[in-house]
Amino acid sequence: MAPSLLAADFARLDAEIGDMVAAGADLFHLDVMDGHFVPNLTFGPFIVGAIRRCTDLPLDTHLMMTRPDRYLEAFAEAGADALTIHVESDCDVAETLAAIGALGVRSGVSLNPDTDLESVRPHLPSVDLVLVMSVPPGFGGQSFDEGALDKMRRLAAWREAAGLDFAISIDGGVNDATAPACREAGADILVSGSHLFGSPDRPAAVSRLRGTGRTA
Ligand code: DX5
Ligand code: ZN
Repeated sequence: MAPSLLAADFARLDAEIGDMVAAGADLFHLDVMDGHFVPNLTFGPFIVGAIRRCTDLPLDTHLMMTRPDRYLEAFAEAGADALTIHVESDCDVAETLAAIGALGVRSGVSLNPDTDLESVRPHLPSVDLVLVMSVPPGFGGQSFDEGALDKMRRLAAWREAAGLDFAISIDGGVNDATAPACREAGADILVSGSHLFGSPDRPAAVSRLRGTGRTA
């Protein structure tokens, strides 16, 4: 279970992170947006470093950037544990994934809802994580695109057939209504922003998304 800090109150980030750790988060999902790859801006390595000082949980950093290859070292030095790049970004994806691995952090590849799953297939043997987007990247609070379920099922089948061991993560519109289908389709990590941070009882919300809590 990975809370997306995009939906946190950044004026009280330390408290928000502590609250999600207490609620049972396994890791944190950090959304980096460059204003080019997506029509929104968030934060860079400086804030990742600040988040690093708030928690020991793994930091999965989702780089929604046209040129993620230019910033890998900076994010790794800031304390990111995983760097996920988009297959649609304007860099050599294979080379960039290799560069991430060489920095000693976990590597991930992500794809947008409109992108064919075949585009990530050549990269599967070299990644630790595939981040399936179930919303167009750029903003929290959008609705879940059901096409992501089929992508996760196909990824899980490819993984098994090829004897690979990457994790499947789902990002966008994950809530009580969509999480069960995500788990059934093979998601290992559920990213949730607006739903989780907007829940009045965060520990209960985390349990429900995991499938271990009450469903009502
Ligand atoms: C969207 C981001 C997501 C976002 C998800 O571009 O990649 O991580 O925070 O937010 P919700 O859970 O609100 O859809
Ligand atoms: Zn994200």
